[in-house]
Amino acid sequence: MDRGIFITVEGTDGSGKTTQIRLMEEYLREKGYDVVIARDPGGTDISEKIREIILDPGNGEMAKVTEMLLYASARAQLVSEVIKPAVESGKVVICDRFVDSSYVYQGYGRGISLKTIEDVNRVAMDGVIPDITFFFDISPEIALKRRFASTEADRIENEKMAFHMKVYEGYKSLASRFPERIKTIDATRGVMEIAEDVRRWLDEIV
Ligand code: TMP
Repeated sequence: MDRGIFITVEGTDGSGKTTQIRLMEEYLREKGYDVVIARDPGGTDISEKIREIILDPGNGEMAKVTEMLLYASARAQLVSEVIKPAVESGKVVICDRFVDSSYVYQGYGRGISLKTIEDVNRVAMDGVIPDITFFFDISPEIALKRRFASTEADRIENEKMAFHMKVYEGYKSLASRFPERIKTIDATRGVMEIAEDVRRWLDEIV
């Protein structure tokens, strides 16, 4: 059986990934593909437990290296339990976030070197590399405003916005370094306009 396809979807929080993943899934199923949807961190029992630890607001004291390693651990389990077997058996896997999120959030956002993230994740990914990555490009200022619809940000929200801006700049920088793999999609447009753009890319690879 032919090898399947591994698609990852990236973007700052609130960039509309979830809706677009649902539309991609629908489109590919209509074309007759066997589609598996996953999310990183998550997608397996163990990875979902790790996700809870990572995202628990009570774990404010978590060191950035711990955070990076937990994301990598959740990813290692997702790769070995879901992604690798599915791709090897000819399926199309669409994963909501993957290693690029670690580069931009833990690297550009928290300041861990990209080399360290690469080394750790080489072990976690076990040779699994996305065939194509969609970066939904929308400034977090717009995306988060859309989501929270608040007028003025307080000090904490401001701090968070500075972090989200670093993440966003990180995505743009990665996308310009790896244009063959990472496709930048203007996510400021209407849902169906964005979906059409994505479908054009999908038609090229599936
Ligand atoms: P999600 O809500 O989009 O599933 O992602 C959970 C959060 O985890 C989101 O804010 C992005 C962040 N994240 C990282 O910081 N590093 C990573 O490697 C991944 C996969 C996600």
